[in-house]
Amino acid sequence: MDNFIPAPAWPPVARPRRLRRSPWIRSLVAENTLSPSDLIWPVFVREGAGTREPVVSMPGVERLSIDLLVEAAAEAHGLGIQAVALFPVTPAERKTPDGVEAVNPENLACRAIRALKHQVPSLGVICDVALDPYTSHGHDGLVRDGYVVNDPTVEVLCKQAVTQARAGCDVIAPSDMMDGRIGAIRKALDLAGYDQVAILSYAAKYASAFYGPFRDAVGSAANLGGADKKTYQMDPANAEEALREVALDLAEGADMVMVKPGMPYLDILTRVKRQFEVPTFAYQVSGEYAMLTAAAANGWLDHDKAMLESLLSFKRAGADGILTYFAPKAARLLRHG
Ligand code: PBG
Repeated sequence: MDNFIPAPAWPPVARPRRLRRSPWIRSLVAENTLSPSDLIWPVFVREGAGTREPVVSMPGVERLSIDLLVEAAAEAHGLGIQAVALFPVTPAERKTPDGVEAVNPENLACRAIRALKHQVPSLGVICDVALDPYTSHGHDGLVRDGYVVNDPTVEVLCKQAVTQARAGCDVIAPSDMMDGRIGAIRKALDLAGYDQVAILSYAAKYASAFYGPFRDAVGSAANLGGADKKTYQMDPANAEEALREVALDLAEGADMVMVKPGMPYLDILTRVKRQFEVPTFAYQVSGEYAMLTAAAANGWLDHDKAMLESLLSFKRAGADGILTYFAPKAARLLRHG
């Protein structure tokens, strides 16, 4: 409907506040809702057993050894969360310039996938495809003469995707922003017999300052040593380009697309959802989590209310689901109040 604005009158004829008078009517007219099944929980897995280690710049988030991760994931699943997104914290001695650990079927990510699928089989497992957890320079791809080279990187990413699919990963999530990688990965998965493994593309992923705490969490900040990812991740100035990126990834076979970061890019999320009408996810990234958590810790924001409002904003903007480090906390609140 066109925006309905009645002729000015006094006293007013239209009184929108009638529908805000009490909780029952507010909930009757609510346009959007948030439920635990909207949430995907990104988790950090580390080596060891019985080991948990806090991420300093993300209070409340921990790097967990596989055994504890499985327990935490089972509990989250019990709260209604349907999938986790897995991020390995690779020991420094396993990082190399070519990131070859990415294709080791015994790497941390693959062992974690197998443990999760074995012990919590009905929980979806999503795994990033990109080389940054494994490279000694911290980039998502192979570096030649100071530049992240596209096509040779895509060859390795295809092998990484097949390695993860073989370990039992349900959804492959390329987060590297190389050109043409979705098509190449789809083909590689199909040839290896994994035509049922889905692809969630980080289609519109921006070169953002809000990834800082994540890079601390996986240890890639030190590897990057101040370098940025602007030659492959998108310029925050651009919106039209995000639509071209999404169009390409869908044409190449992406089943679902993602916009990342989240709150500073809600405009992109809305445009993508409106234009393509495909399953579209938003990633409320580490820096967004850190901002909200830090303000709440200072008593400047109500933690739970700000958290739920931020998550609902993604639904309103058009997201089908949200990757968020708040997932278990939010699910518990939504379930039990
Ligand atoms: C790696 C990757 C990053 C994030 C998800 N996958 C970091 C980056 O691109 O440098 C960021 C997630 C977050 O900040 O929460 N390709």
